[in-house]
Formats: sequence, C-alpha cells, structure tokens
Amino acid sequence: MAKSPKKTVAASQVRMNELVMPNDTNPLGKLMGGKLMQWMDICAAISAQKHCNRNVVTVAVDSVEFVNAAAIGDLVVIEGEVTRAFRTSMEVEMRVWAENLRTGSKRLCTTSYHSFVAVDADGNPVPVPEIIPETATEKERYQKAEERRNKRLEHSRDVREMARKFDVDEGDTI
Ligand SMILES: CC(C)(COP(=O)(O)OP(=O)(O)OC[C@H]1O[C@@H](n2cnc3c(N)ncnc32)[C@H](O)[C@@H]1OP(=O)(O)O)[C@@H](O)C(=O)NCCC(=O)NCCS
Repeated sequence: MAKSPKKTVAASQVRMNELVMPNDTNPLGKLMGGKLMQWMDICAAISAQKHCNRNVVTVAVDSVEFVNAAAIGDLVVIEGEVTRAFRTSMEVEMRVWAENLRTGSKRLCTTSYHSFVAVDADGNPVPVPEIIPETATEKERYQKAEERRNKRLEHSRDVREMARKFDVDEGDTI
C-alpha cells in the first residue's frame, strides 16, 4: 500500500465559535462543563479528521480543569490542532477562551489533550499520515507528545484490565 503523504500541523488547525445561550448554562448563568466538553470533542474531532481524512473515534481525553467560567452571552472560542500523529492515533491540543462581547475582554477557560484513532468502516484502526511540526512551538509540542502518550497508555492498561473484570456475556443481567 502507498505511504500517506506527510501533513503540516497548520493543515489540522480548527477555530470554532459558540455563543453561550440560556439552554447551555447552570442556574448561575455559567456555561455547563459537559456542554463545553461536547463542543471541545467536536472541534478536536474535526481537527483529527482534517489531518487523516478518515472517520475517527475519541479514545482518551486528558484531565480537564475549568480555570475560568464562560457566562451567558459570552463568545466561546475553541482552538485545536494535531500536535503529533502516531501509527493510527493522533493527539489534538485544545485551548478554550471566553470572550465578553460587550467589553472585548478574553479569559482562558481550559486547555486539554484529546486522543483519536482513525478507523475504517468496521471500526478497525487504520494508519494516519505523519505530521511535520514547523514552528518552534509545534516542535516543542511534538517532542512532549511522546511522554504524554506513554502516560496515557500506562493508564489505559489499568482501565482495560478493569474493563475485562466487568465483562458481561450477552443475556447476563448487569
Ligand atoms: C479506540 C479503539 C478503536 C482502539 O481499538 P484497539 O483494538 O484497542 O486498537 P489498538 O490497541 O491497536 O489501539 C489503536 C491506537 O489507539 C491507541 N490508544 C489506545 N488506548 C489509548 C489511550 N488511552 N490513549 C491514547 N491512545 C490510545 C494505541 O496506542 C493505538 O495507537 P497507535 O496505532 O498510534 O500506536 C477501540 O478501543 C474503540 O473503538 N473504543 C471506543 C471508542 C469510542 O467509542 N469513543 C467514543 C465515541 S467516538
């Protein structure tokens, strides 16, 4: 099979804008964390798909901490790009900002890393193109991605071990 061409980080960059509406908020008028994570997952998946041009599934999301809230009426700007592609998986770095459209002030809400696997029509992992980091920042993110991936895979072994313990056969009651 022909090797996929390498692609740049810039080719996977995505910037998504969302306006915080009443249905997205808690009783204090702040954006709900779960809603923001849904937007982040969509933005990250678009970035991974721009890189590999395949269907992707989320395999892991690193810990997410909300350092600042977005309020009703704020613009939420979600940015992401692939930092590194491995064999069938990709790491996407996400950054989220809340912008007050009346004052123009911006606050960082959260950052996180999302990992995706490219899959075929049967859901089996398929190889993705290599990525070329170009700028100094991209090169640094690329370097550090290896260590982050190792930590994730270590955690994944524990999770999969636990999942095996909870395996149920068809017809079993849970
Ligand atoms: C993700 C999935 C396709 C992996 O299938 P698998 O049979 O375990 O495949 P593999 O063991 O070959 O792993 C595939 C890739 O995932 C990577 N991976 C597995 N667990 C990971 C984790 N926790 N974090 C990061 N990467 C992980 C592997 O390292 C491998 O990457 P590589 O080929 O670049 O080295 C499968 O576990 C799955 O379908 N999970 C459910 C996904 C889902 O439902 N997501 C939410 C809805 S989109």
